[in-house]
Amino acid sequence: MTADTKTAPAGDAAEKTFTFTNDQTGESWQFPVVEGTVGPPTIDIRQLYQQTGHFTLDPAFTATGSCKSRLTFIDGDEGILMHRGYSIEDLTDKSSFLEVSYLLLYGDLPSKKQLDEFIRSITYHTMVHEQIHYFFRGFRRDAHPMAIMCGVVGALSAFYHDSLDIWDPQQREISAHRLLAKMPTLAAMAYKYSIGQPFMFPRNDLDYAENFLYMCFGVPAEPFEVNPVHARAMDKIFILHADHEQNASTSTVRLAGSSQANPFACIASGIASLWGPAHGGANQAVLEMLAEIGHKDNIPEFIERAKDKDDPFRLMGFGHRVYKNYDPRAQVLRESAHEVLHDLGIDNDPTLELAMELEKIALEDPYFVDRKLFPNVDFYSGIILKALGFPDTMFTVLFAMARTIGWISQWKEMIEEPALKIGRPRQLYTGPAARPYVPIDERK
Ligand code: CMC
Repeated sequence: MTADTKTAPAGDAAEKTFTFTNDQTGESWQFPVVEGTVGPPTIDIRQLYQQTGHFTLDPAFTATGSCKSRLTFIDGDEGILMHRGYSIEDLTDKSSFLEVSYLLLYGDLPSKKQLDEFIRSITYHTMVHEQIHYFFRGFRRDAHPMAIMCGVVGALSAFYHDSLDIWDPQQREISAHRLLAKMPTLAAMAYKYSIGQPFMFPRNDLDYAENFLYMCFGVPAEPFEVNPVHARAMDKIFILHADHEQNASTSTVRLAGSSQANPFACIASGIASLWGPAHGGANQAVLEMLAEIGHKDNIPEFIERAKDKDDPFRLMGFGHRVYKNYDPRAQVLRESAHEVLHDLGIDNDPTLELAMELEKIALEDPYFVDRKLFPNVDFYSGIILKALGFPDTMFTVLFAMARTIGWISQWKEMIEEPALKIGRPRQLYTGPAARPYVPIDERK
């Protein structure tokens, strides 16, 4: 089949079309070309099978748009990330995580009054049902906190029956606020449970990031002062992870939601998808890799292993499906890592030094240069989180916490589309063709 794009005759509703021609039969079909605000145009192939009798095959969705969205735009070649038109650099520099959350959820930056009301609603939804405390006790103390999060977030649908009707806009809004508000409480509880300390109740006089740090690192026995530099770094990390277009976990949330599952169940599915080391689990894997490398002198050996196709080892925190340039989130975090370590008086942190050296060597190596493999967001986030006192196993939990607003905003956008349709990919079947059933005593 060959293809060709042209502008349709004036007056045609579909301004541009894309023509597919069957090289064997000479038959051709035109499909509408749909353009977004920015970014490459897309070919609307929804009628492809009906018209041509062919499906498309794109197992990892490398060239397939699964939806229309107004939330986030990424230009991977230029290293650009925007939420609702605002650059990630502007947002991390001038905004706050809750303001960005409002922006993602509602579409525009809030007025002062709207932001105050939103912050109040989030603040007053941070406590979890008392029964959830007992729920935690069913887990082993050494359970990975992501395993706990998958279970506990999914279980929220068993507690908040009054916000499960996905067709009621008010219930959708309440569940969005509940998820955003309760995720830090649950994440902090997962951490406290793993170290055997009592759960800390949220404090309404603290902001989102401060309250989270307090719930993680405070203890009932004494007052806890939140370090403002740490709170700001935490807030930046949350902003940088808030949304990222149709990545694996977001697509998982959308697919789960397309079956009309409730929002808590959908977000639990996103958490499960995020856990993998090729996605959100990479921040934990980066620190494990740096520990394994151990010393600058060992870097060349690990670089060679990363290049060896017979070795499953990959340089964690490097490469991205969309970014073929420096990940803009990694740029911001690189500076933030220095700020936090400086504030903690660790200007010569060996892990950061090792990371910088690894980055330098990889960025000069033709293997990484040719494949456009740059450091991604996970390369630096783990270093900051470690400096703030989080164990490696909590890194992905923090990613999940921050990404919850992206997931729920994407879910809400999808539910509010005029015609919600269940997601149902097709396949290229390569198994046996039809064959007769052979009774067991006649099988060879
Ligand atoms: N180390 C060594 N080689 C790599 C790496 C890496 N980290 N990433 C990609 N490559 C090579 C890969 O082997 C392939 O080489 P070749 O063309 O010779 O076969 C080429 O680069 C293209 O890679 P790919 O696997 O086709 O790329 P992808 O878009 O399918 O995968 C990725 C993207 C992020 C899964 C991958 O780069 C990777 O595994 N990186 C390490 C894990 C990581 O840091 N993940 C976090 C991603 S950012 C945050 C998030 O999404 O949660």
